[in-house]
Amino acid sequence: MERCGAVMSSVLAVVLVLQLGLTPIMAQQEQQTGVAGKEVILSCKDINYQKDMNCNWKYKYKEAYSTIISFSKTKIFKGKAPMTHRSEMKSDSKQLKVSDLNLDDAGIYTCSCHSPEVSISLHVLKLTVSSNGHFLANEDLQLTLMQNSSHSQPHLSIELFHISNKIVTTEILQNEAPQKYILKLKQLKATDSGTWMCHVYSNSPLINQNISFDVKVLGFEDERLEIMYTTVGNTVILSWHLNFKKIEWKEGFIGKLNWEPQGNAAIHELFAFNVTTRREMHKIKKSNHIWFEILETKPDNTIKVKIPKVQLNHSGQYQCQLEINSRRIWSMRALVVMQVSANPAGPLSRGGKMTLLCQVSGPLPSNAHLLWERVNGTEMEIKKSKQHEAKVEVDVSAPGLWNCHLMENNNRKISLNYTVEEAHVWNSYAVIGAIIGASVLVIGLACVCIITGMSWQRRRKRAKRMAQAKQYLLEKKTCQCQRRMYK
Ligand SMILES: *[C@@H]1O[C@H](CO)[C@@H](O)[C@H](O)[C@H]1NC(C)=O
Ligand SMILES: *[C@@H]1O[C@H](CO)[C@@H](O)[C@H](O)[C@H]1NC(C)=O
Ligand SMILES: *[C@@H]1O[C@H](CO)[C@@H](O)[C@H](O)[C@H]1NC(C)=O
Ligand SMILES: *[C@@H]1O[C@H](CO)[C@@H](O)[C@H](O)[C@H]1NC(C)=O
Ligand SMILES: *[C@@H]1O[C@H](CO)[C@@H](O)[C@H](O)[C@H]1NC(C)=O
Ligand SMILES: *[C@@H]1O[C@H](CO)[C@@H](O)[C@H](O)[C@H]1NC(C)=O
Repeated sequence: MERCGAVMSSVLAVVLVLQLGLTPIMAQQEQQTGVAGKEVILSCKDINYQKDMNCNWKYKYKEAYSTIISFSKTKIFKGKAPMTHRSEMKSDSKQLKVSDLNLDDAGIYTCSCHSPEVSISLHVLKLTVSSNGHFLANEDLQLTLMQNSSHSQPHLSIELFHISNKIVTTEILQNEAPQKYILKLKQLKATDSGTWMCHVYSNSPLINQNISFDVKVLGFEDERLEIMYTTVGNTVILSWHLNFKKIEWKEGFIGKLNWEPQGNAAIHELFAFNVTTRREMHKIKKSNHIWFEILETKPDNTIKVKIPKVQLNHSGQYQCQLEINSRRIWSMRALVVMQVSANPAGPLSRGGKMTLLCQVSGPLPSNAHLLWERVNGTEMEIKKSKQHEAKVEVDVSAPGLWNCHLMENNNRKISLNYTVEEAHVWNSYAVIGAIIGASVLVIGLACVCIITGMSWQRRRKRAKRMAQAKQYLLEKKTCQCQRRMYK
């Protein structure tokens, strides 16, 4: 009986031991997801939080356990597991907090305060954004998502959200699934700046994780290429708005404004600028051209150039360029100048002809053309430029007012007028003027002549009379003498 009892008790003990040994294995394994670079808090479930209870957190990798941290009698002992130096245990809840996670931290974490032991499988996700999240407009962004866990890795479904405008963009470019996924956001725009969300999902094991990341896209807030039309003599302001203030860009960069005159391969650097890490802009004039001014703007995130009296030869392409680490982007304003002229210049003689020329400085886009239109005169007349011709001529034989319009998609962009004056109207006035002038002169001269003639005649008469008197006196004297002699 005694032996039997001993056997019984030893069997019991074996069963007990087995049971004890099996318990941890059979305990339900929990699943938790962590994100590389962030922290994760693992909970030791089902424990009555006794203040001075002994607890032990361990990490298991390839069947080898190592202690992360343990707690006994109000004292904390650090173990030798790889993440020990990044771990701490909350003394009340006995939760384990691991900071600055990395892919290697994936594995089994066990917490034993007393039986049953709690076992948590930590799944780590790591999201890497190319260029540290800093881009120039038109560049591609590449995202790499990696996962690691102690068990087999699930296939993940991934979606990207832009927080502010809720755009969902998903394009998995390359798939080294299940460990590694590569996604691309192509040709970023300045407006793609902001916080993005990467949503990672899997059914089994359940993963439902949002990972946020910041994107800054340095660029221009306006169009990349804009055509500006103006007429000779006008004032033009070319401007470029940079977004470095808005997106709080933190790196310094440089830039410049180049001018490529129309029909001339030479490129002139008009000025250069730099933006410091404190987002202050400095502009330095590089050319000795005096026909343009750099305008100061507040806040200083805009490049503004003023051309006061535009000439045909100011046309061409004005290109604002940003550069950072040898990567460049640009935004261009094509300045098109319109001019009207007449050949021969001056008023139109009666029965004569002249040619009116309307031209723009550069080639016109296919949706644009020039149009001469007679505004007043005897009859309505219109002449349109040929496709791809930057000028239109019209022969004129009558006076009137002509307008040249630059039409884009049948909308008038700019207009210039030319008044053809009639020459004979102008001449007859001159003739009348000349006749009046000549008559006045003739009358004046006549008067002078008459006056002079009259006074001359008077003088001659007086001289004649004097001579006659002299003669008479002489004769009288002679006579008396003779009489005296004869006495
Ligand atoms: C996954 O984690 C294990 C355990 O730390 C590590 O040895 C392995 O290198 C990790 N895999 C990757 C791809 O980081
Ligand atoms: C993840 O983010 C999206 C978009 O902000 C949101 O709709 C979703 O509820 C989030 N999911 C989780 C698990 O946080
Ligand atoms: C930026 O421009 C200012 C003013 O011309 C100059 O003093 C400064 O050295 C420049 N900084 C860089 C980084 O080029
Ligand atoms: C444009 O032409 C005028 C004369 O028509 C000249 O005085 C001026 O210097 C020229 N400007 C440029 C930028 O070439
Ligand atoms: C053009 O119109 C104006 C005003 O309607 C008029 O005074 C002028 O005489 C006209 N010119 C010609 C050449 O018809
Ligand atoms: C002709 O053009 C000038 C300047 O563009 C403008 O001031 C004037 O009013 C125009 N004349 C007519 C008759 O349209």
